[in-house]
Amino acid sequence: MAESMKGLKRTHRCTEVSNKNVNETVTVMGWVQKSRNKGGIIFVDLRDRSGLLQIIFEEDKCGSESFAKAEKLRSEFVVAITGEVAMRAGGINQNLATGDIEIIAKDIRILSEAETPPFPIEENSKTKEEIRLKYRPLDLRRPDIQSNLILRSKVVSEIRNYLAEEGFLEIETPILNKSTPEGARDYLVPSRVHPGTFYALPQSPQIFKQLLMASGYDRYYQVAKCFRDEDLRADRQPEFTQIDMELSFVDVEDVLDVNERLLARVFKNCLGVDVQLPIQRMTWAEAMERFGSDKPDLRFGMELKNVTDIVKDCGFGVFTGAIENGGSVRAINVKGQGAMPRKKIDALVDFAKGYGAKGLAYICINEDGTFKSSFAKFMSEDEMKNLVAAVDGEPGDLLLFAADRDKIVFSVLGALRCEMAEQLELIDKKDYRFLWVTEFPVFEWSDEEERYKAMHHPFTMPMDEDLELLDTDMGAARAKAYDIVLNGVELGGGSVRIHQDDVQEKMFKLLGFTEEEAHDRFGFLLDAFKYGVPPHAGLAFGLDRMIMLMTGADSIRDVIAFPKIKDASCLMSNAPDVVDPKQLEELCLKVEIPEE
Ligand code: AMO
Ligand code: AMP
Repeated sequence: MAESMKGLKRTHRCTEVSNKNVNETVTVMGWVQKSRNKGGIIFVDLRDRSGLLQIIFEEDKCGSESFAKAEKLRSEFVVAITGEVAMRAGGINQNLATGDIEIIAKDIRILSEAETPPFPIEENSKTKEEIRLKYRPLDLRRPDIQSNLILRSKVVSEIRNYLAEEGFLEIETPILNKSTPEGARDYLVPSRVHPGTFYALPQSPQIFKQLLMASGYDRYYQVAKCFRDEDLRADRQPEFTQIDMELSFVDVEDVLDVNERLLARVFKNCLGVDVQLPIQRMTWAEAMERFGSDKPDLRFGMELKNVTDIVKDCGFGVFTGAIENGGSVRAINVKGQGAMPRKKIDALVDFAKGYGAKGLAYICINEDGTFKSSFAKFMSEDEMKNLVAAVDGEPGDLLLFAADRDKIVFSVLGALRCEMAEQLELIDKKDYRFLWVTEFPVFEWSDEEERYKAMHHPFTMPMDEDLELLDTDMGAARAKAYDIVLNGVELGGGSVRIHQDDVQEKMFKLLGFTEEEAHDRFGFLLDAFKYGVPPHAGLAFGLDRMIMLMTGADSIRDVIAFPKIKDASCLMSNAPDVVDPKQLEELCLKVEIPEE
C-alpha cells in the first residue's frame, strides 16, 4: 500500500548530500535503483534526477518495521527515507558523486510501489529505441536522457538571459495561422466555426517576426515551436524548436556578431567549451567547391578537386560526356586507402548511387606506383599520370571520381567525403568547428517543378551588387543569407529581409506568383510594410540540433522529451489517431482513404 508523505519534507536531492553533512539527519526521496539484502544489512541505491545515493538499513538502527519495509523494496519503488549521513564503512566508490558517504536509515515510507519495468533504467541502455519510446516516461528516467534535458534547460535559460541583456524582447506569435511559405508541407487544423477552412501550424514565425519589426519592436526573440510535415531524418522532427530572432536597422554583420557571441557564451557557460571568435566564414560557392556541401564538416580535410580541365579531352567517355553536357568531373583523395578491397569499393559505388550518381570511377595507387583503376583502359599513360598528380595522389592512395552535373557531383562527393571520414575514424568527436556559410544563391532550380524556387524564403534580400542580376541571370544572384554550421550540421540560418516593395514585388514575380496570389498569401505583410518598415534581418537556430551536438547524442530524439518516430507518429500515445465521428461531423469533414 502506498503511504503518504504527510509531515515529511525532502531536505536534499540525492547528490546534494555530501561529506559536509556527516552526522546530520536528512530526508531524501526518489526511486530505488537497486536493493540488495546482504543478510542483516540492506543496501539501497536511491536515484533522483541529480544522481545516486547509498542507503543502509540495519534492523537495530531503523527498527523492525522499517527493516521489514526495506526488505520489500524492488527497483523503481518510490520511497522517502530519513536517516543519518555517515562516511562509507565499506570503502569509497570513485564512480559516484556521493561515493564517500552513505545514509544510515532510521525511517522509510514507501510512497509508491512499482511493477518490474520492461527494461532496466540505466545509462547507455541497449534496449531497442522502439521499446524505449513506447515506455518513454520510464526511458526519461535514464541518467543520460536526464542530463540531456537538464542541459537543454540550462541552454535555454542562458540564451534567454543573454538575449535580454542584448535588448531583445520575448514575444509569442500565433500557432493557428494562414500557411507560411517555407518549402515544407503544412500541418493543417480544420476550423469548426468556418467549415471547410483550415489553419496552418507555423513552419516558423517568419512573417510574424517581420511584422513585429514593422511595428517597432526592434529586437524580438522567441523559443518557438515549429511544425513541418516533411520526411524525417535523425536531425529532423515534425515539430521542433527554434530560437528565433529578428533585428531592425541592421545588416549581415550585426546579426552574425550578436549570434556568434551568443554561441560563445552558451558553449562556455553550459559546456565549458571556448568558441574562438570571430567564427570562420566561407561563401556558399567556396563551400560547395571545396567540400561539395553547404554545411561542410571542417574537422577533417579530404577536399574536392576539380579535374574537369585535365580530363576534358581524355579518352574516357563517361568523363567527356558529362563535361559536354555542362557538368564537371571532380575527385577526392582518400589517403592511404589504395589497398581497399574490391568489395568495399563496390559498396562505395552503391553509396554514391544513393546520392544520384550513375557510377563512381576510382584509381587505387599501389605502393609500387602502378594503378588499379576502373577506367585506366580508356586513358593514355600520360593522362593517368596527370590526373593522379592533379589530385595529389601518392602510392597507397584511393582516388574517387564523379562525373555529372555539378549538383550531383557535389552531393555525391560531399557525402562520400563524410562517409569516408566516418569509416576511417578521422573525426575528433570532441572538436567543435563552427562556420558561417554566406552569400547563398537567391534561387534554386527545382528539377521536379522545373522552375526556380527561393533557396531560403521569398523575403530574402539579394546582395546589393547582384540586384541587377535579377533581370539578367537570376540563377546567379546571391542573397544576404547565412547559415551557421557546426561539425557538418546546419545549426541555424537567416537572412536580411526585403523591405522595399519594388524588390519584393519583383521577387514574387520571379517566383511565379501573380500579383493576386502574392496578395492573397502575404497581403497582410505587404500591407503592413506600406505604413513604414525598417530594414531588418534575423536568424533562427534549431534548438534540438544545438543540444544534440552539445550532448553528442546520435539523434535529436534523445534531446526531446517526447519525440516522434520516422513516420511522424508517437509510439507512446499512438498519435495521430482516428477521432470520434461526432468530431468530424462538427467540422463538416468526411474522410476518404484511397485504396492502394
Ligand atoms: P530554417 O528553415 O533554415 O529557417 O530553419 C532554421 C533552423 O531550424 C532547424 N530545423 C529543424 N530542426 C529539427 N527538425 C526540423 N524538421 C527542422 N527544420 C529546421 C535547423 C535550421 O537551421 N524562418 C527562417 C529563419 C530566418 O530566416 O530567420 C527558418 O525557419 O537547425
Ligand atoms: P562504364 O563504362 O559505364 O562501365 O563505366 C566505367 C567506370 O566508370 C565504372 O567504374 C563506373 O562506375 C564509372 N562511372 C560510370 N558513370 C560514372 C559517373 N557519372 N561518374 C564517375 N564514374 C562513373
